[in-house]
Amino acid sequence: MSDKVEKTDSSCGCGEAGGSGGFCKKAGRNVLITGGAGFIGSNLVRLFVNKYPEYRIVNFDKLTYAGNLANLKDVEDKPNYVFVKGDICDFGKVLSVFREYSIDGVIHLAAESHVDRSIKDPFVFARTNVMGTLTLLQAAKECWNGEWEGKMFYHISTDEVYGSLGFDGTLFTENTKYAPHSPYSASKASSDHFVRAFHDTYGMPSIVTNCSNNYGPYQFPEKLIPLFINNIRYGRPLPVYGKGENVRDWLYVEDHARAIDLIFHKGRAAQTYNIGGFNEWKNIDLVRLLVRVTDRLLGNPEGFSDKLITFVTDRAGHDLRYAIDSSKLKNELGWTPSLDFKAGLEKTVKWYLDNQQWMDNITSGDYERYYEEMYGRR
Ligand code: NAD
Ligand code: DAU
Repeated sequence: MSDKVEKTDSSCGCGEAGGSGGFCKKAGRNVLITGGAGFIGSNLVRLFVNKYPEYRIVNFDKLTYAGNLANLKDVEDKPNYVFVKGDICDFGKVLSVFREYSIDGVIHLAAESHVDRSIKDPFVFARTNVMGTLTLLQAAKECWNGEWEGKMFYHISTDEVYGSLGFDGTLFTENTKYAPHSPYSASKASSDHFVRAFHDTYGMPSIVTNCSNNYGPYQFPEKLIPLFINNIRYGRPLPVYGKGENVRDWLYVEDHARAIDLIFHKGRAAQTYNIGGFNEWKNIDLVRLLVRVTDRLLGNPEGFSDKLITFVTDRAGHDLRYAIDSSKLKNELGWTPSLDFKAGLEKTVKWYLDNQQWMDNITSGDYERYYEEMYGRR
């Protein structure tokens, strides 16, 4: 997707999309959100279901270990919301959903998302992230049959495709060359290429965004922030990889969801946008802040949980630093993060402590049993 070639425009001529090629806001539109039962997906589904009562929002999710319908309890009965359990690698099922619900727009988040798991079992990452994305693209192509007007395929990707930065202040831009290091980021990079190839080859209107580390409510407790909050709560060790010197650029998940909404509707087709918080934190500094905030909210004396910080063997191929330049998004569409990091972290810790049952259900396996009863074995 070069900046110059714009073969397609998905606008339907209603004037709502700002003439840019984004997805026109009008009644009766059907939006497929994949991976809507996961962390970012559930925050996005909630935003869309509440903000766009005139759309039908179809959440298509396989409910892997990371998918949890409890994340969407507050919207599950809304008339504009539909949940379909399915695998994005199942072409027949995906195509039938496109047809049954007359899908006009796709926001594709379903993925295997955890780097450590990709190191242990790369195959499932290639299957879901590469083949699953290709399956969705092929189903969209078949269903839309060259009638691109009013259509949009929006693919959610990660900054990890750009590889790793040094400590020289450089930021990832939309023109940074891809250099993935983990099986996870390699699979996401491949999926991004397929989306762009479907635009360049067939003219499918599409957008790719590459976002930095998200934090906030409903994140599966294998990721740094929810894992550590829960471990502090129960007095368990906090395993910091290596020396804790790696840097990540953190963004509150609802700010990511707002950016997706804006880009889906107002972004230019065939473009890439980076999304990030201009908010870099060394892991060890973040962990120390997290310990302080969590101790305070738990009513522990200052420094109480410092002893839990434990340096462990580093992650294989651990990228040193990620940092996103999101100025294109700011300049073109006016998006900026709404939350200051310290306020966002405090809000997040409070959410996990207030929703201990959500966490306990996941970590005790109770939600596995619930889904087995509802949907059979995963
Ligand atoms: P998550 O692991 O919390 O959720 C993934 C969801 O996808 C789950 O609900 C799961 O059930 C579903 N899923 C997995 N395989 C599926 C399949 N074969 N068919 C249908 N559904 C399937 O992930 P997340 O952290 O919310 O990330 C969502 C997307 O955003 C991913 O594409 C990820 O690469 C990207 N991303 C994440 C971050 C982050 O910090 N979490 C940052 C940038 C980009
Ligand atoms: O940058 C965007 C990416 O952010 C997303 O594409 C991924 O889906 C998402 O999982 C996240 O990847 P990270 O690997 O950066 O996130 P994670 O929470 O696993 O780790 C954050 C940092 O903390 C990383 O440098 C590894 C370190 N870490 C992580 C865990 C789980 C630890 O030191 N100890 C841990 O136990």
